[in-house]
Amino acid sequence: MDKFFKIVMFAFFLIISLFTPSSYGQRSCSNYTFTNNNIYTTCNDLPVLNSFLHWNYHQTNRTIDIAYRHTSITPSNWVVWSLNPNARAMVGAQCLVALHNSSGLVHAYTSPISNYETTLQEGPLSFRVPRIAAEFSGGQMTIYATIELPSGSSTSFTQVWQHGDLSGNTPVIHPRDAGHLASFGTIDFASGLTVDTGAATGGSRNRKRNVHGVLNVVSWGILMPIGAMLARYLKVFKSANPAWFYLHVACQVSAYIVGVAGWGTGLKLGSDSPGIEQTTHRNIGITMFTLATLQVFALLLRPKPDHKYRMYWNMYHYAIGYSVIILSIINIFEGLDILDPEKKWKNAYIGVLIFLGATALVLEAFTWFVVLKRKGNSASDKYPHSVANGTNGGVANGINGGGSNGYDV
Ligand SMILES: *[C@@H]1O[C@H](CO)[C@@H](O)[C@H](O)[C@H]1NC(C)=O
Ligand SMILES: *[C@@H]1O[C@H](CO)[C@@H](O)[C@H](O)[C@H]1NC(C)=O
Ligand SMILES: *[C@@H]1O[C@H](CO)[C@@H](O)[C@H](O)[C@H]1NC(C)=O
Repeated sequence: MDKFFKIVMFAFFLIISLFTPSSYGQRSCSNYTFTNNNIYTTCNDLPVLNSFLHWNYHQTNRTIDIAYRHTSITPSNWVVWSLNPNARAMVGAQCLVALHNSSGLVHAYTSPISNYETTLQEGPLSFRVPRIAAEFSGGQMTIYATIELPSGSSTSFTQVWQHGDLSGNTPVIHPRDAGHLASFGTIDFASGLTVDTGAATGGSRNRKRNVHGVLNVVSWGILMPIGAMLARYLKVFKSANPAWFYLHVACQVSAYIVGVAGWGTGLKLGSDSPGIEQTTHRNIGITMFTLATLQVFALLLRPKPDHKYRMYWNMYHYAIGYSVIILSIINIFEGLDILDPEKKWKNAYIGVLIFLGATALVLEAFTWFVVLKRKGNSASDKYPHSVANGTNGGVANGINGGGSNGYDV
């Protein structure tokens, strides 16, 4: 419900920000009175994260007095408002930070961000900040600061604002849901013009992430394990030969095709948002794709069932196949951590896995029951899953050898 509400609010802000130029019109920030009776001539309702920026720009000495308000905050949050003079990105952002420090006092300081692993260490910014202070009351953190723009620089910048949790007294990375990824835009202090870049593009990026997630969970995470189960558990039924083979191939080939589409969307997402902690996810994804592609091509090189190398081919096929499935499951959890910090979809996928696992367990027991029973009935039938070869009594190419040759294509 909470997530639904956020999505509705986000969509609402998105529509508002697209259809109302934020430089004019009635804004709720213009009605706000500061406890210290400061007056700011310009203000901006930031489109996400319940934040507001108020400022006075002094053209003569290029200084800006700023009051940044971030509401719906707790004392265990950190709050940041920043300018990035060089890029539309987190790295390079020159931050004003406010948080409750170990003495339990509100502490405001500056912090330049040089990498994605930042813990917002204190440090000087690329422009002067002669004054910075903060106050916290009623769930609202307000940062008051004066900044001096370097002479000759433009008055237009990328602004980025954020909040996140404190672990002890150390800021940890902000959540990565839609609002937190859309909290940037451009601001021109002289004209008062702002553009909510993040909110305008964040919606489509989020949609792309969801498409990527659904394609990959369905293909790699659900169809491929089902395809493996079809092969393993249908084989035991004489009447399912050769149907199991075609079902297995059809399932894995469609999983592969959908999976490649999902993989492609992932590469695109990765190149669109460099640096978001996704190296592991990306590397596992590339490995999975390579192994699965090998698996598809190996199908073409498959020796005949009675060929002496067929046993090695089978071992290879199982090893690669199971590796791909294990890597897929691991990578889906990696991806869900990036996509869904609230864990709802993660729990849903765990449910699917438990269902598949339980089904596999029952079928595994049933398969062994059938195989052992047949073994009791037929002395020559020594191997599980090798029960269907009519001409030589079913003793085929080793364990799980698929001793049926009627299906060979
Ligand atoms: C601003 O405040 C006045 C009175 O305090 C109120 O009538 C008006 O509706 C408010 N405007 C906005 C945009 O909140
Ligand atoms: C800049 O100018 C404004 C008014 O023009 C003044 O109030 C302010 O103190 C000046 N700031 C600095 C740092 O000189
Ligand atoms: C906490 O912040 C206050 C206000 O900035 C500062 O005076 C104090 O030294 C800080 N305490 C610690 C332990 O950093």
